[in-house]
Amino acid sequence: MSSFIIQGGRPLNGEAVCQGSKNSSLPILAACILSDREIVLENIPALTDVDATLEILSCLGCRTRREGTVLTVDPSGVSAVEIPDDLMREMRSSVIFLGALLARTGRAALSAPGGCEIGLRPIDLHLDAMRRLGAAVSDEGGKIECTAPNGLKGADITLSFPSVGATENVMIAASLAEGRTQIRNAAREPEISDLADFLNAMGAKVSGAGESTVVVEGVKKLHGAHHTVIPDRIAGATLLAAGAITGGRVCVKGLIPAHLAPVLDIFERTGCGIEIGSDTVLLKAPKALNSVRTVRTMPYPGFPTDIQPPVTAMLCRAQGTSVVIETIFESRFKFVGGLTRFGANIRTDGRMAVVEGVKKLSGANVVTPDLRGGAALVLAALSAEGESRIEDVRHIDRGYADFARTLSRLSADIKRI
Ligand code: UD1
Repeated sequence: MSSFIIQGGRPLNGEAVCQGSKNSSLPILAACILSDREIVLENIPALTDVDATLEILSCLGCRTRREGTVLTVDPSGVSAVEIPDDLMREMRSSVIFLGALLARTGRAALSAPGGCEIGLRPIDLHLDAMRRLGAAVSDEGGKIECTAPNGLKGADITLSFPSVGATENVMIAASLAEGRTQIRNAAREPEISDLADFLNAMGAKVSGAGESTVVVEGVKKLHGAHHTVIPDRIAGATLLAAGAITGGRVCVKGLIPAHLAPVLDIFERTGCGIEIGSDTVLLKAPKALNSVRTVRTMPYPGFPTDIQPPVTAMLCRAQGTSVVIETIFESRFKFVGGLTRFGANIRTDGRMAVVEGVKKLSGANVVTPDLRGGAALVLAALSAEGESRIEDVRHIDRGYADFARTLSRLSADIKRI
């Protein structure tokens, strides 16, 4: 079990290059099995969630080769249709293979994902959408089986919530369905547009990605492709928040600044200076951060739920009271208990946290509760006076590539043991 040992209280300074997007890489890797030709992907980050996805691809019969951040996938040998239970448990977003397997093989079997650290993770929208595309779906004793022996048929699908994963699953499945599919109330996240670009590079006909209606004209076959995954807006924003909470000056390069607009707005409201270049964002923290009256997580283009924990940590050091409202996941304040051990003053009530800023945080020993909550605790430790120990950082390894080294390069005193 690895931990981070952090000597905090020093401002972060310097430049960091943003990693490729985790949340783009996972659905794009799943979509590789739609084709039987070689696919080359660039900017795939070194994350344990990517490792788990590659393991699933290998169980399904794909061969993969990795050189740095370039990944080559040969999906010609796909034969299996089942995602092993242990991999499903390890990464609940494995449900993204549902549409791809159904479209490629006419069958998909997996275990229901169940609850996780940030709350229930139902997949009803995914299953309903597969039914609308003509699949027979059975869900017995936590075992889900979908079949479409005669192929999928295009359909009009209205999502009751703009779920990112359900939108992606439908886009992937509909690419090889017969006829036209319309997804209304689709998620609009940048990762949806990246997936559409990848599918189109394979010969699919997807339009409207990034808007609330996505249209997919099914095609008979998809070919190989070469695609570069977009930068990770959440990892980039986390580094900027680390600059803000430590009173530092951090420049993140290789970003698409427009993807961070709702987060940059919050940084500006705390008094941070923000300079935006074509693919860079420079954050200069003020002497003391201002509180923000309300931060409310929303589907894109609203403020992203994934950056809520690091921003909540940052607000612990702001002057005054901030209110954070989590509207996407039901249980995303588990890291708050850890923050209070650093001396933060936060109360939670259901989906709301009230943060009274404090003048200083002090080093503490804490355990990471989940991926983004873990990042929030690292940020608190960077700002806290004295030594902190962040235990069990495997949650952080799921989404931040070599986090300790990236932060060291920004002059943080952090060691992994
Ligand atoms: C994706 C991201 C995750 C991010 C989230 C919201 C990946 C791998 N993960 O997760 O990092 O936090 O988007 O931006 O891309 N819901 C249902 N039924 C369903 C599906 C979802 O009720 O069938 C609910 C969820 O419980 C949750 C909300 O919808 O409350 C949002 O979930 P969704 O957008 O689907 O998130 P994910 O795709 O799982």
